[in-house]
Amino acid sequence: MKDTGGYLHFRTITDDDHIVWLHFDKADSGTNVLGAEVLHELDQQLQAIATRSPRGLIILSDKSNGFIAGADIHEFTRIKNEAQALELIRLGQSVLNRLAGLDFPTAALIHGFCLGGGTELALACRYRVARDDPGTRLGLPEVRLGIQPGFGGSARLTPLVGGLKAMDLMLTGRTLDGHQAKRIGLVDRVVPERHLRDAARKLILEPPPPFRPRLIDRLSNHASVRPLLAWVLRRQVGKRASQQHYPAPYALIENWRQYADQPSRMLEAEAQSIARLVRGITARNLIRVFQLQERLKALGKDEQYQPEYIHVIGAGTMGGDIAAWCALRGFRVSIQDQSPERIAPAVKRAHALFRRKLRHPRKISAAMDRLMPDHKGAAIARADIVIEAIFEDAGVKRDLYRNIEPRMKSDAILATNTSSIPLEELTEALQHPERLVGLHFFNPVAVMQLVEIVNGKSTASEVSHRAMAFTRRIDRLPLPVTSTPGFLVNRILTPYLMEAVALESEGVPAALIDKAATRFGMPMGPVELADAVGLDICLHVAEKLAGHFHAKVPERLQKLVAEGNLGKKTGRGFYRYRKGKAVKPKPVGSNWNLEDITSRLMLRLLNEAVSCVREKVVEDMDLLDAGLVFGTGFAPFRGGPMQHIGAMGPQALHTELENLRHLRGKRFTPDPGWETLFNSEGGT
Ligand code: NAI
Repeated sequence: MKDTGGYLHFRTITDDDHIVWLHFDKADSGTNVLGAEVLHELDQQLQAIATRSPRGLIILSDKSNGFIAGADIHEFTRIKNEAQALELIRLGQSVLNRLAGLDFPTAALIHGFCLGGGTELALACRYRVARDDPGTRLGLPEVRLGIQPGFGGSARLTPLVGGLKAMDLMLTGRTLDGHQAKRIGLVDRVVPERHLRDAARKLILEPPPPFRPRLIDRLSNHASVRPLLAWVLRRQVGKRASQQHYPAPYALIENWRQYADQPSRMLEAEAQSIARLVRGITARNLIRVFQLQERLKALGKDEQYQPEYIHVIGAGTMGGDIAAWCALRGFRVSIQDQSPERIAPAVKRAHALFRRKLRHPRKISAAMDRLMPDHKGAAIARADIVIEAIFEDAGVKRDLYRNIEPRMKSDAILATNTSSIPLEELTEALQHPERLVGLHFFNPVAVMQLVEIVNGKSTASEVSHRAMAFTRRIDRLPLPVTSTPGFLVNRILTPYLMEAVALESEGVPAALIDKAATRFGMPMGPVELADAVGLDICLHVAEKLAGHFHAKVPERLQKLVAEGNLGKKTGRGFYRYRKGKAVKPKPVGSNWNLEDITSRLMLRLLNEAVSCVREKVVEDMDLLDAGLVFGTGFAPFRGGPMQHIGAMGPQALHTELENLRHLRGKRFTPDPGWETLFNSEGGT
């Protein structure tokens, strides 16, 4: 019996066993999310189903990409005050309370994404069945958006799996596949696609007792141990995120410490906490960063382009890792270098990556089969995309292009991973300059999400679009930039790094410089970052950009490189390294003021960001922010450099730059681009 009557987002089917199957298929959307309209309709559906007294209820999604991706984030951004936030949260809580209170067995049938509100809905069911595949991911990642679970997530997960396991999941925001979720008790069954429905039906027809956590997990919720555990959790979180910048995880811990054994008060605490957090600057910026990420993803949406074969030339640090990453993501990849010996280490690193990411021997060997050493470049003729990652030397790259272009397919793309050479210096070697595009990956490839799509003057827009689509296929975020020196990310980062070197040369302890930056919210200080990137590479980029910045390359940097102290990779740079970790001596008797150090570092970065906006290196300020957050880890809670300028006030920052110019010289000269920002003072 089928019933779709009057409902937009849900339909029910009652089977011969009198089990109601509630199908969720949000209208006009490719993804199921929980907004006010959907919640109201779900409420009506649940009321109607309850009156029929069925044998049980199974909730499932009709979307191919997953169960439910979470609450409707766009609705969150429209919330104007705490009262509105409370209204929305209480609506969600009351609907899920109704679901949890049904007096017949209920089950959530989960495939694909089951995040945030989706997991909370699943938690309100008596049972959960997950599809057994790597694409099925469950989690409560709200803290990553600066908020916390609010539809009963923390109130229901902590008693179900134990306080510590629940808090770990919510505080890290990480996701679990079906098996990991089953191990902690978050799901009851993990089965292949073909058994999903039967497994859910069986749970309804022969309902087992609901999952009960082990004694030790139950004890972790006990009132007598919570204060100590909360203290430990706060310390752990404190290592990653300060309370001032990221209040959500601390609020989550505090609610649990106070109310873990009083479910209704915990629900109320969730609601109050979200209402407070969602209007705060951190949540607004983190939600914006999430939306920027969605925008970058959308740039690479192109269903038509289906490259199959990738050929990478240069098996060094970057080429080797790019080839491995493409093979990991399912492409057939050949890798070329000057000799087989130079390819071998890349293949070894690829194997380690596959082992780490795929774990299963069959999958690892399939990935290895997709990666083919090809030192003579025999596969060039077959490749849809040729990625060049050889030495950073325009002449050497041009020679290579002259050699390979005649062998490439007529519609194949030639992508260069150059980090600083404008494409115009390379196209003269090509018969078809329109096929050259920059695919600028960041190091380490397996960690850094951003790929700059560098558009030269001759790059065809079709080629640029295809490069973005390919970037999405390998699960990276494409950012289109113009082919100007340093492109976007390196150009903005260089003056910041050079200012750090200048400070260090003036005698400021490196550890203090790094502290100033991490206190601002950068993931790593600039001195440690320079050491990690490699001082030879920093020097190379600084030399390339010296003309652009009208600045001399710092002598200290040249000296360290000349001495062979290249940073982390040689065990010594600005810092000494022991077992791969920087040894940071405690700064003693320093008269330096952290605020001054932060100002000097950040103002040079912000000034260059303004310059890039004026020169339209990227299309708009939002894309610039996205580039810096995903390419450098720029303090996400500040929303990116341009958002930060808006929050601080462009006029005030401009005045600070002027003051520094008088004190420290013309490298602090404000870019003319600041003038246009004054008109939009108060926000970007
Ligand atoms: P690398 O020195 O580690 O590797 C370069 C490889 O290219 C070497 O194995 C070399 O044998 C090979 N090679 C040189 N000429 C060749 C030719 N004619 N045919 C075949 N193979 C050839 O260099 P790395 O660091 O991997 O850099 C490669 C490119 O990526 C450069 O353009 C660099 O600017 C860029 N890049 C580097 C980053 C980094 O952090 N190292 C970050 C982003 C881009």
